[in-house]
Amino acid sequence: MRLAGKVALITGSGSGIGEACALLFAQEGAKIAAADVNSDSAVRVAGSVEAAGGDAIALSGDVTNKSECSRMVSETIAKFGTVDILINSAGITPRYVPADLPFDEKWDRVINVNLKGSMLMSYFASEEMKKQGSGSIVNLASIIGLVGYPHGRGLSDGFNPYPHSKGGVVQMTRDMGVAFARSGVRVNALCPGFAFTALTKSLTDNDDSRDMLESLHPMGRLGQPIEIANAALFLASDEASFITGACLPVDGGYTAQ
Ligand SMILES: NC(=O)c1ccc[n+]([C@@H]2O[C@H](COP(=O)([O-])OP(=O)(O)OC[C@H]3O[C@@H](n4cnc5c(N)ncnc54)[C@H](O)[C@@H]3O)[C@@H](O)[C@H]2O)c1
Repeated sequence: MRLAGKVALITGSGSGIGEACALLFAQEGAKIAAADVNSDSAVRVAGSVEAAGGDAIALSGDVTNKSECSRMVSETIAKFGTVDILINSAGITPRYVPADLPFDEKWDRVINVNLKGSMLMSYFASEEMKKQGSGSIVNLASIIGLVGYPHGRGLSDGFNPYPHSKGGVVQMTRDMGVAFARSGVRVNALCPGFAFTALTKSLTDNDDSRDMLESLHPMGRLGQPIEIANAALFLASDEASFITGACLPVDGGYTAQ
């Protein structure tokens, strides 16, 4: 087992990539703190981990709220004694922000969840990791943190906060990776291509937009959450002991073109 005895706190674990990480990491021997702003989904995923013979706690909290981030880390430590792994998978796109909000308020909402939320969770988790002299943080960035949206596809007008937030996550990963390098705490990011989850459902349910997205990926298909979780497992594990500040595309070749 690749995570035997480790404690993994996973935000956004109620759906998609975070859920896949929770189930996979538990199979690999980790104890799971399944966190989500949607408490029902956190409870459901923690229940699935336990039904499969694993050890889990469900945490309800909003990653944009500093005191809730602190509490989620404290509850993890209270239950399992420490936190070895943090997966920052909580994330939103502007598609899930009320359409009638002014553009700057939409921007704030997306930046707050995707960038500030990852920073806040890392702040509190890294305190504990530094104390114990080891830890691994994996941020869910995106291909759209490495390159812009493709031109002429109607995906951005230049004010889409999603690429702005994910570019910030990439740079935050590098900065924390360097800053924590001598403390035993590694910080890396995954940059997934488009994958089938609730986040992309409105695009992937539509034949035209799914075909368009598939054609943008050299492999000619979109990813599955488990394919992203497998890469997260590697970065979270001791197999990645000499890797920090790295941003790994998991994208069917998208950013190689
Ligand atoms: N699916 C993709 O194509 C794709 C591609 C690149 C990057 N990503 C990134 O991967 C991460 C996971 O995405 P996903 O596709 O699994 O999405 P998802 O919508 O399936 O899951 C996201 C989870 O985050 C939770 N969440 C949202 N706001 C929150 C908040 N304020 N506090 C706590 N939890 C909150 C949601 O309740 C949900 O359970 C996101 O950061 C996303 O931007 C996804």
